[in-house]
Amino acid sequence: MSKPTWVKPAVPVLVTGVCGGSGCTTTTLGLANVAATRGISIVGVEANPAGGDLADRGADAVLSEIGIEQLITSVRGGIISDEAFIQASSHTGTNARLLHRLGTTLAREADYVAIEDYLRSRRASAVYDIGHRLQPSYLAPLLKSSLAPVILTVPCRVDAFNRMRSSLESIGNLLGDAGLKRTVVTISNQAAEGWPVDIGVLERYLGDKIWSIEQIPYDQHLGSGVVINYEELAPATIAAYEKLAAAAVAASEG
Ligand SMILES: Nc1ncnc2c1ncn2[C@@H]1O[C@H](COP(=O)(O)OP(=O)(O)OP(=O)(O)O)[C@@H](O)[C@H]1O
Ligand SMILES: [Mg+2]
Repeated sequence: MSKPTWVKPAVPVLVTGVCGGSGCTTTTLGLANVAATRGISIVGVEANPAGGDLADRGADAVLSEIGIEQLITSVRGGIISDEAFIQASSHTGTNARLLHRLGTTLAREADYVAIEDYLRSRRASAVYDIGHRLQPSYLAPLLKSSLAPVILTVPCRVDAFNRMRSSLESIGNLLGDAGLKRTVVTISNQAAEGWPVDIGVLERYLGDKIWSIEQIPYDQHLGSGVVINYEELAPATIAAYEKLAAAAVAASEG
C-alpha cells in the first residue's frame, strides 16, 4: 500500500510555537501549500485569540475581507453555509483556502466547533495556526482529536531553545504522553547567518518523548516579509516542508 500523503480527513494539524515570532504562521502556510499541491482539499485556519497575519502573509491569490468573526455570525442552526464559507475564504496560489480573524472579537470555543463541523462535513483537512498558547478553552474542539499531530515551532535562537521545556510540559499536561509522542519539533531558521544547532544533541535530550525533530532552512523569500508565493521558495525549503508534512502524517498514524 502506498504511504498516505496527508493526515486523515477530520484530523486537524495543530501548529503551535514556543514563543511569539517562532515561525508558527509561516509553517502553517508551508504545510497548507504542501497539502494543496498534492490535491488535498486544505484550509489553513487562524486560531490565535485575537487573530494574526495568516491571510496577509499567505493569500497570494485572493484576500477575503471577511473574517471568522463574520463567518460565525452567519451560522444558522450551528451550520456554516457553503456560500458564507466561500466568501470568507482567502486563497493561496496553490489553491489552499485560508480563514483569518479580523480581531473584532476574541476567539470562542463555538467558532472552532462550527468550523470543525463544517470542514468535517466537506471532508476538508485543516491546519491550525494556534500561536504560542495551547491552554485557552476556545481551543478545546481542536485538541480533542487523539490523532492530531502537533507541530511545535522553535526559532533557531538560544532563548527559544530554553523555552522549549515549558512548551513541551504544557503539551504533556494538556495532551498527555500520547500528545507529546505526536509532537514534531520544527526548528525554523530565520536568520541568514544561522546559529548552528547540533540536532543529535537535541535528539538525545528529547529522547523518545516526541515524534521527531525537523528543520526549515533560512529562505530569502520568507525572510523578506512579502506575501508568500510557494513557487518563489527555494527547492530546499519546499523539500523541508514536504519532509515536515511526512513527519506530521507519521506522527498522527503512530
Ligand atoms: N525559514 C524561514 N526563513 C526566513 N525567514 C523566516 C523563516 N521562517 C519564518 N521566518 C520569518 O520569521 C518571522 C516570524 O515568523 P512567523 O510570523 O511565522 O512567526 P509566528 O510564530 O507566527 O509569529 P507571531 O507570534 O507574530 O504570530 C517572519 O517575519 C517570517 O517571515
Ligand atoms: Mg503568527
